[in-house]
Amino acid sequence: MNARLALRGDLLDFAAAPAWGDTESAAVRYRPDHWLLVEGGRIAGVQREAPDASWQRVDHRGRLVLPGFVDAHVHAPQIDMIASYGAQLLDWLERYTFPAEARFADRAWAAAGAARFLDALLAHGTTAAVVFPTVHKVSAETLFAAAEARGMRVICGKVLMDRHAPEALRDDVAGAERDCLDLIARWHGRGRLAYAVTVRFAPTSSPAQLAMAGALCAADPTLYMQTHVAENRDEVRWVRELYPEARSYLDVYARAGLLHRRSVLAHGIWLDADDHAALAASGAVIAHSPSSNLFLGSGLFDWRALDAAGAAVAMASDVGGGTSLAMPRTLADAYKMQALRGERLSAWVALHAATRGAAHALGLAGEIGSFDTGCCADLCVWDWARGAVAERRHELAVGLHERVFAWLTLADERNLVSARVAGIERWRRADGPAAA
Ligand code: GUN
Ligand code: ZN
Repeated sequence: MNARLALRGDLLDFAAAPAWGDTESAAVRYRPDHWLLVEGGRIAGVQREAPDASWQRVDHRGRLVLPGFVDAHVHAPQIDMIASYGAQLLDWLERYTFPAEARFADRAWAAAGAARFLDALLAHGTTAAVVFPTVHKVSAETLFAAAEARGMRVICGKVLMDRHAPEALRDDVAGAERDCLDLIARWHGRGRLAYAVTVRFAPTSSPAQLAMAGALCAADPTLYMQTHVAENRDEVRWVRELYPEARSYLDVYARAGLLHRRSVLAHGIWLDADDHAALAASGAVIAHSPSSNLFLGSGLFDWRALDAAGAAVAMASDVGGGTSLAMPRTLADAYKMQALRGERLSAWVALHAATRGAAHALGLAGEIGSFDTGCCADLCVWDWARGAVAERRHELAVGLHERVFAWLTLADERNLVSARVAGIERWRRADGPAAA
């Protein structure tokens, strides 16, 4: 690959966080028909005029160019049981999720699953992700290896679960600690990979296992932590029974040393104002998963309250509770969920939470989520409209917010033309233009 690459298109990213409700925002950086310069896999600049012949050019004129999406919470093995019928969280885990995850004990199965999953992420326009594999060490190893082969920014860790799960999916405190330490030594900080201490959720870890997980985080503050919190009302009741000493579900994690600035907690629907304040104070991020919350009937996330409290929110597909890896679909679901709450989610707040906002919350704003000079050139090219209805709507859109809002409401992975990771094209639609 030529070390100097220039892409022409309508460049859209964020220079700062947009305020809730603003459809006009100085945080939005829109540079229509500009050239994005990529050198050595990193963003080298943006300019209006065509670069000289030392740059290999790709002409995506009339197309939307965005930073690659960041999926803040997604389960790699669950593409095997996505779209499973008729259950809320706890029943859904037992009936569909756990049997699918049990198969990842096998190395060949896990390796094929990891490759299939990461290729699917790229084909949906997502270039970075915080990922749950399964309880099996091999499922984390194969995922890290597959991410490294694709050059992707992936945060992952072996799932911890030592109780309330089928035998084939249970570990124990000592064995799990050994596996974590070994995986951390081999993968954390290697290239674009980072390790997350991965507590499935409070019900499937004993207090001793939560304490072990907290000790791992305390020993190395560069480690991430990922888990689920307050997703479903039956789950919340169960956690209250299992941890009666905790003030709240979130407090179970806080007491174990699992709530910190590198914590990524999925859902956070059934939280109160004290929890919101604790999240903000800790610097942790909620991975908001509207597709999953609607599909599993979990509830309506109070994004506005978290925003007002100063807590970070990043977008997540939560596949296979969520029903699509496509971030535009997730953003459209987020809008509809806020509409049910009587709120209006702007295209800017939504898109920011899937790009620069997610990157910032993960401490990765210097690497992903924007077209800032020096960031990795993880980027995707999208058709503004696909099909007669979207094309008509696009033609009639007045102003940038209207156009982008219609895009995220009507687009899906079929709009994706090209996905690049550190400048290298990792996915291209059959009719997409090649470099010239
Ligand atoms: N809570 C515990 N495990 C899971 C899971 O796999 N998916 C979702 N959505 N919630 C969970
Ligand atoms: Zn999840």
